[in-house]
Amino acid sequence: MLAVQSELISAIRSIPDYPKPGIVFRDITTLLGNPKTFRRTIDELVHPYAGTKVDKIAGIEARGFILGGAIAHQLSAGFVPIRKKGKLPHETVRIAYSLEYGVDEMEMHKDAIEPGEKVILVDDLIATGGTAEGATKLLQQMGADIVAACFIIDLPDLGGRKKLEALGVKVRTLIEFEGH
Ligand code: PRP
Ligand code: MG
Repeated sequence: MLAVQSELISAIRSIPDYPKPGIVFRDITTLLGNPKTFRRTIDELVHPYAGTKVDKIAGIEARGFILGGAIAHQLSAGFVPIRKKGKLPHETVRIAYSLEYGVDEMEMHKDAIEPGEKVILVDDLIATGGTAEGATKLLQQMGADIVAACFIIDLPDLGGRKKLEALGVKVRTLIEFEGH
């Protein structure tokens, strides 16, 4: 494992049995609250795309907003929020997506992305991939050219990466945790 990966893993707080028994919650607030590890994380997420043209960063509510804003600034790109339904004031495009139990809907403003724009999708974590898959489909409907989907954490046992790869999207993650 790379030194930077150990550093990021150590900075994440793991909370057993939250939000329910048997789940270990990976809490990134400790990583975000540490100036050094927050910067390292953004630097690691950004560096493959430095010097390439990226038009927009699409961040998934809620933690994808924190990372996406910083990444957009670093790459001189715009930022587009993908929100849970009912939060955006203008006309939207909406898609249903699957959660561990049940479904929800997410949306983005219908004029947020022009066809052909180069977009990086960002969230803190990919687990089952239901959330990121919904966001990917929404971006693809809008005609976005998705450069990559980026996450700090992958839970590979839950298979989310394969869902995005099946849609033709490159997936970049920094660290992995076993289980869920
Ligand atoms: C968590 C996490 C990802 C998503 C991953 O968000 O931040 O967005 O779950 O799960 P999946 O790959 O199985 O879809 P959550 O739904 O808890 O909402 P929040 O970010 O607004 O807290
Ligand atoms: Mg989330």
